[in-house]
Amino acid sequence: MSKAVTPRWAWALTGSGHFFNECIELVRQLEHVDLFVSKAAGEVLRQYKQKLDLPKTARVYKDTAASSPQVGYFYHGVYHTLVVAPATSNIVAKFVYGISDNLASNVFAQAGKCRVPSIVFACDTAPELLTRSPDGMVKVFPRRIDLENTEKLKTFEATQVAESLSELKEFIARRRSDLKVA
Ligand SMILES: Cc1cc2nc3c(=O)[nH]c(=O)nc-3n(C[C@H](O)[C@H](O)[C@H](O)COP(=O)(O)O)c2cc1C
Repeated sequence: MSKAVTPRWAWALTGSGHFFNECIELVRQLEHVDLFVSKAAGEVLRQYKQKLDLPKTARVYKDTAASSPQVGYFYHGVYHTLVVAPATSNIVAKFVYGISDNLASNVFAQAGKCRVPSIVFACDTAPELLTRSPDGMVKVFPRRIDLENTEKLKTFEATQVAESLSELKEFIARRRSDLKVA
């Protein structure tokens, strides 16, 4: 496994249409980022007719192996921060119950086990939300279980849960400046 010289951002993209395009735009603005794309995110990317168009320093990993070998990078100090955005209700549920059975859930679990701080942009944050489907804006009503899982995730160690795009931007900016100081 090649060792990255510059510490990198790890970003997991999951299959949620909630601010999907905006999240990809934020990835483009990061220097030295590795993007971990869930199988569903790859499909959603096509449905929203989006291209990644990432900077040259970015690396992209797709979910093709059962054991998620790429997560080994976390054990070699390659990443300073993990961002999961947008995060589906499915992936938040897996995070909360400690399941690591695909690339995105493994990335979060290994970040935790390697004490790499995480920022998660959860989609299910209110009983009623407006979100963008491939055909336009639609209303969605997250269930009690979805809202409870988001709340539980907030109690995790070294994990910040962003509830809006502006909060996600704020957490990333704060982490960036903390890293500069360090
Ligand atoms: C166009 C599209 C938009 C979707 N948007 C959401 C969403 O906003 N929130 C969500 O929880 N799931 C959404 N889904 C469903 C997830 O993609 C699905 O639950 C998938 O199994 C999640 O896999 P992942 O968590 O491994 O990425 C969407 C699916 C499609 C096709």
